[in-house]
Amino acid sequence: MKKDINSLLLKKNRGEKIVSLTAYDYITARLEEEAGVDFILVGDSMAMVVFGEENTLGADIDVMIAHTKAVTRGAVNTLVIGDMPFGSYESSDSQAVKNAERFHSEGGADAVKLEGGNNRSVSRSKAIIDSGIPVMGHVGLLPQSISETGGYRVVYSDRRDELFEEAFALQQTGVFSIVLECIEEELAGELTEALTVPTIGIGAGRFTDGQILVVNDILGLSGDFKPRFVKKFVKLDEMILEALKTFSNEVRDGVFPAERNVYHSREEK
Ligand code: KIV
Repeated sequence: MKKDINSLLLKKNRGEKIVSLTAYDYITARLEEEAGVDFILVGDSMAMVVFGEENTLGADIDVMIAHTKAVTRGAVNTLVIGDMPFGSYESSDSQAVKNAERFHSEGGADAVKLEGGNNRSVSRSKAIIDSGIPVMGHVGLLPQSISETGGYRVVYSDRRDELFEEAFALQQTGVFSIVLECIEEELAGELTEALTVPTIGIGAGRFTDGQILVVNDILGLSGDFKPRFVKKFVKLDEMILEALKTFSNEVRDGVFPAERNVYHSREEK
């Protein structure tokens, strides 16, 4: 049975941790589903980890939707959330609704996520939810706002009031969950207890209702990028490099293809 947005709330209420990861392609989505993650986010982090851009601002809506389609094909029984990229929802509520509908109808996403809890994001969130598409909020560090905030900054308790106000305003719109990004652990824990909707932390400590990480980061596929909150569970970069070198050497040395890798005429069988 497909996991849905209600399953996250059930987990919060039972005190069970929610597990989530990003994915950008079919095979990773399939593996994440097999591993039993509770939801998959097709994050705009794709701009950085797939396309090598410096930040997420260049994520393109058409590309995001194409990758969402790949992910929903790979994880048919898992809740898939499309991340609304910079420029896809800021202009107006109708722009936001139109693009959220594209994630849903073209990409097959079950829900969308959008960044921020200011008046604009609250209005967009409400409009999308009113149109029938579930929304996940996102407060704390907002990668799409680095030009305004002057960089990637952890949110500490001096910004408690603003953080709580934004999260509660989003909850009021009917979001089914809220991502808390790079927030002091105690503050994220206090906010998690105060909210009725589940919180999903990334760099927000141990007391959120769930955790999300960028899949490339946990697999060792994001180069030297290693903020404090990331844990590498495998060094796939080293394994891939080893395989690529072995392949190259075998081709150069005439070891590959071997007899078992080639076809002969039918008569010779
Ligand atoms: O795009 C992304 O990977 C995200 C995570 C930070 C949650 O939004």
